[in-house]
Amino acid sequence: MTTLAFDVYGTLIDTAGVTTTLSAIVGDKATAFSNLWRQKQLEYTWRYGLMNHYQDFNVCTRQALEFCEEQLDCALSETDRKRLMERYLTLPAFDDVMDGLESLKNAGIKMYAFSNGRPADLATLLDHAEITPFLTGTVSVDPKKTFKPNPVIYQHFVDSCGAPRDECWLVSSNGFDVCGAIATDMKAIWIQRNQSVKFDHWSQKPTKTIDSFSKLKNIFI
Ligand code: LAC
Repeated sequence: MTTLAFDVYGTLIDTAGVTTTLSAIVGDKATAFSNLWRQKQLEYTWRYGLMNHYQDFNVCTRQALEFCEEQLDCALSETDRKRLMERYLTLPAFDDVMDGLESLKNAGIKMYAFSNGRPADLATLLDHAEITPFLTGTVSVDPKKTFKPNPVIYQHFVDSCGAPRDECWLVSSNGFDVCGAIATDMKAIWIQRNQSVKFDHWSQKPTKTIDSFSKLKNIFI
């Protein structure tokens, strides 16, 4: 039976959703801030992973926020930092997600959230975005104390969902995540919502590429 592992930040959930809150705080630096924040957050996961010095995703997000303040020369109050970190727990789903989830659930496909995020943060985020009722479960990297794309993490997904590896598909807009899954012989779908975002020229290629989450139904139903 097909089992889908949905990446969360950047795939189900739009991290750019923080830009509206940022606009009220840093004005016209909001887009640059949002982009750099996400870039540094991911960089920190890779670096802590390589160092074998796990700090959870919330720490990476908070430390990246503080880096952006300094890099973009816009010091924030502790109240604003708190507001932004809270906003990170209520980010919106992408517009194409609900339609895709509904069709897949109706077809009996098993679906999991699979993320670098901490379990409690993922629960809050997915409840707020009304995604939880569609899911069989959530698999967080946290028990393994490292991050994607460590192969340990993709094995952790396969072990957690109990499905055979060749029935497990990662669904992600993050190219590094797709490469990580393919390198461990999972199948992987890359969602290229924005045609200006290109895939790495690596030997790992997505099994399939689609331009909208809602097109998953054309593959699996
Ligand atoms: C996640 C990161 C990759 O949700 O965004 O796992």
